Amino acid sequence: MTTPIVRATSRRRFLQYLAGGPLAASGALSAYAAETPSKLPDPMIWAPPGSGDLIKSPKDAINVFEFEPVARQNTPPAHFGYMASGLDDEVTLRANRDGFLKFQLNPHRLNDVSKVDTSVELFGTKYDSPIFVCPTGGNQFFHPDGEVAVAKAARVGNHLQILSTSSNYSVEDVTKARGAPIWFQLYASPRFEVAQALIKRAEAAGCPVLMVTVDRIAGRNQETMFRLRRTDTRECADCHDRSSFAGRSVRRHNYDGIDLSGITGGGESSNLSWDTVKRMRDITRMKIMLKGIVTAEDADLAAQNGLDGILVSNHGGRGEDYGRSTIDALPEIIAAVKGRMPVIVDSGFRRGTDAVKALAMGAQAVGIGRPYLWGLGAFGQEGVERVLEIVRTETRTAMQQCGARSVKELTPGFVRRAT
Ligand code: GLV
Repeated sequence: MTTPIVRATSRRRFLQYLAGGPLAASGALSAYAAETPSKLPDPMIWAPPGSGDLIKSPKDAINVFEFEPVARQNTPPAHFGYMASGLDDEVTLRANRDGFLKFQLNPHRLNDVSKVDTSVELFGTKYDSPIFVCPTGGNQFFHPDGEVAVAKAARVGNHLQILSTSSNYSVEDVTKARGAPIWFQLYASPRFEVAQALIKRAEAAGCPVLMVTVDRIAGRNQETMFRLRRTDTRECADCHDRSSFAGRSVRRHNYDGIDLSGITGGGESSNLSWDTVKRMRDITRMKIMLKGIVTAEDADLAAQNGLDGILVSNHGGRGEDYGRSTIDALPEIIAAVKGRMPVIVDSGFRRGTDAVKALAMGAQAVGIGRPYLWGLGAFGQEGVERVLEIVRTETRTAMQQCGARSVKELTPGFVRRAT
């Protein structure tokens, strides 16, 4: 029997371990939180502190977190803050990581997993991995090659890439670098003519799927970014004209040639409605998916409104600070959709086991965002390649260890809610 003194020591060690690991930034660690009543650790630091020297090369990385401090070192504070930031108290940002602790994998033994097929098929196109590259804006914040470097890395592992409307490189340049069609994420903008011009552009570039973001409809309070921006000694106005939306969009080349006059603030589409989506349907042959669905009710409405799919996403904790992780919302959404359309998911995914939990629940693919930006900021294309390789390898290992020979074989029986 363990003596109380040993138990106390183990608990202290456990807390030290948690405090030193990526989960240190997690609000779900109630034991840790109870002993640390002050402000929780800053979520921009997911990498284990004190874990030795920064990695010097992508191949030295043992997990995706190790790219983060290198990216931080290489990236101006305001830009790093833009990527790292959640909103307000960053409850959703933390919840996205904590959510994975609520679920456990249920391995099935003796299944002969000597051959594992990690490929997935989405709208008739096969990708070698269920991991897709999420749309993230302004990748030149992290490396001059920006989204082109990301596309080349996605090409190496044959990953689906979804390009942000707010990318620095245009949809044509990124498609060329990827060497295959990419999907286009749309910020609709409050003026339909702008959405229309972007849709036409994406369709002409060969994008088969339009991913309409529905969760950026109001302003937002990105406190981590504002805090880090204060520490940046450079003058933002030297590069960013923040006086108008058109000014802000000068280096976002998907907007080239589009009249952006009259659009204010960050161009949030607060007038977006089911009718807007219907109007989009009338002007494009691309499949239309909604990004930012987080409830069963909206998922059902999306199916009823003839959408082609949904991306369960809370914008990596950047949409609103409502506090629920996407992995928590996923099962009820899958249940509501009842197989009527594909459901994919993102927000907070870092590990192969995270991905396998979502796939087992019924998601058809899983997106990562910040980790590849860490890779990009740390080492450019090679960093992104290695980040994707790590997540791919971890996903494959987790599938194998669970006893699943293919993504299709990963059914809800492989995951359960922790009690
Ligand atoms: C872009 O999608 C952002 O969250 O800044």
